[in-house]
Amino acid sequence: MKQIIHVDVKTAKAEYGACKTDMLVVGRVSDAGPDKIIRALDKKLGGAIDRLVRLGDFTGKSGTQAVLYSEGRIGAQRVLLVGLGEREKVTLDTLRKAAAAAANRAVEMKVKRLSVALHRAPGGALDASAMGRALAEGVYLGAYRYDEYVGAADNGRRRSLAAEIVDPDASQLKSLAPGISAGTIVGRAQSYARTIANRPGNVIDPPALAKEARDLARGLKTVSCTIFDEKKLRANKMGGILAVGAGSKKEPRLIALKYTPAKKPKRGLPTIALVGKAVTFDSGGISIKPSQDMDQMKLDKTGGISVLATIKALAELGLPVNVLGLIPSAENLPSGSSYRPGDIVTTYSGKTVEILNTDAEGRMILCDAIAYAAKQKYDVIVDIATLTGACLVALGAHKAGLMSNDDDLLERLEQAAADSGESVWHMPSGDEYAEEMKSKIADLKNIGGRWGGACTAAAFLRQFAGDAKWAHLDIAGLDVLQKPTEYATQGGTGFGVRLLTTYLMNLIEKK
Ligand code: BES
Ligand code: MN
Ligand code: ZN
Repeated sequence: MKQIIHVDVKTAKAEYGACKTDMLVVGRVSDAGPDKIIRALDKKLGGAIDRLVRLGDFTGKSGTQAVLYSEGRIGAQRVLLVGLGEREKVTLDTLRKAAAAAANRAVEMKVKRLSVALHRAPGGALDASAMGRALAEGVYLGAYRYDEYVGAADNGRRRSLAAEIVDPDASQLKSLAPGISAGTIVGRAQSYARTIANRPGNVIDPPALAKEARDLARGLKTVSCTIFDEKKLRANKMGGILAVGAGSKKEPRLIALKYTPAKKPKRGLPTIALVGKAVTFDSGGISIKPSQDMDQMKLDKTGGISVLATIKALAELGLPVNVLGLIPSAENLPSGSSYRPGDIVTTYSGKTVEILNTDAEGRMILCDAIAYAAKQKYDVIVDIATLTGACLVALGAHKAGLMSNDDDLLERLEQAAADSGESVWHMPSGDEYAEEMKSKIADLKNIGGRWGGACTAAAFLRQFAGDAKWAHLDIAGLDVLQKPTEYATQGGTGFGVRLLTTYLMNLIEKK
């Protein structure tokens, strides 16, 4: 893959005043004084930090920043002060966001070397390795830019950013280090996801996505890749995927990535299937969408890409757990060969579905992949999809909808959301919603009534999971940032990569 921006995160042992760098990042809480290492730094700066605070120009409130030029008094060219809010409320996500805001600023300012000293601010309240991971993830999050189709002369940035987590104490660095390497793997996987997701529909169509998965698997010893092309989909009677893909000249695919760890999983650990929706472009099909913002529907492949990138991270981390990644992929277009409203589709499970809206296509490709995972006897099935506008209406672009048939799985995903900063909210998907999905002339219909669209969609999917523990993440609206924030550039977010990898890492650590 073409490098969008090359980022490295290392550790560096240095006194903060002596650290030779373009930008030294220091965190500060709003309700307590600086710790002694920061006080020593400020002394070297002639009390400049303290002066800013007393003037009221920098309060340490979360989301605030101030840049200080060191005028040769210390090794760093500049100091970036980042506000972390109240000390009691500082979480791993506060640090992740602070690192992201700093890296974002560093890229804007064309900084070559970025030295991050944020982990001192919470005063030892958080686990060092977990902080290392959050900081590394944050650097990748903030430094990312998508400009592979912009000429290098016009992109206005450096080709790389050399970041380091800096501390004068070698033992502190040693505790941060394992987290930094894990965070680097996860951060890079998320950046990879953002790039593939940001690529437009004419570049990433289902066969191109399949090739990307195959290339990825080729580089990973523990991952094997099987592609179901149209012929194989037909042989397997995967009617849902075939129906959605019928309108496009680009054939649909089911991509299966099987991760078998080098280290044997602990006894009793469940086998896990991750299923991600990858509609490479969703025009709505015959039930066509309004043209306003239709371009955003190139990101309708985000769930599938999160699964792809999670498998990459998993293999690089070498986590001892068996995981199957399933990515059903199709392009939803209107044409003379499209599936149509009124059609009755026989899905892989044998269940028939009456199509009442061709724009409810995500569930049609997911149901085949979920039923396939259930047939392969996976213990846990987690699907992730930009599935319904209704979920975005319900929760806004702040939290993903989470539905499940199992309380333990639900709790684990909620914990992973809290740890990863990719937030979820539990929503229902039980019988009363399933009732709405019954058809008079088939087993199911593909849309419910007017209300609760996220829940009826989940209730539809739930019926294909068999006896497996199942959870569904509706990430509509979280796939994209419409406007840049202080933490991240606009465009694809790669939402789900941190959430899913954290779920798997926790499963092994805290069984
Ligand atoms: N991909 C869309 C959902 C979506 C909407 C994602 C907005 C991101 C932002 C999905 O395929 C879709 O079109 N869903 C329909 C379902 C309806 C026809 C029951 C929707 O939400 O309108
Ligand atoms: Mn749609
Ligand atoms: Zn869609």
